[in-house]
Amino acid sequence: MSFELKTPITGDKLQIYRSLAPQIAALVEGESNTIANLANFCAVLKSSFGWLWIGFYLVEGEELVLGPFQGPVACTRIKKGKGVCGSSWESKQIVIVPDVDAFRGHIACSTQSRSEIVIPLLDDTNNVWAVLDVDSALLNDFDATDSAGLSECLRPLMANR
Ligand code: SME
Repeated sequence: MSFELKTPITGDKLQIYRSLAPQIAALVEGESNTIANLANFCAVLKSSFGWLWIGFYLVEGEELVLGPFQGPVACTRIKKGKGVCGSSWESKQIVIVPDVDAFRGHIACSTQSRSEIVIPLLDDTNNVWAVLDVDSALLNDFDATDSAGLSECLRPLMANR
């Protein structure tokens, strides 16, 4: 199977998300293995936006455990309520951190990370089964467009789980 991005890296980020969403849907269609789909999701987004790190943490009991990702080595386990990922899990809310140094309890997996967004993935019973974590080497790199765009791109993963 081959996958060629039809979107240039430059340009308006909303347009990039809108272009990627159907491509991700096509990529995961017919594949029921969640890990495989999460892995390809990371590859597509990382090659499009070039962020420092993108990956999933999967809920396992009272912890998040590192799942498919692209980027530098990351911490493997995060407790509920800890760090940005654990906070997003606990609150079931998207968390945008414009400056990681200003977020109390931020877990620094890489010293290069300056800003971050975490999106909780909820199942049919409103339980979090994973979180998507995206880290940037730039300060204040994420906003409402990223929340909406990433959520749009995640939709096919929810449908194919
Ligand atoms: N910074 C995250 C931990 C995960 S790494 O950045 C990949 C946090 O505070 O939850």
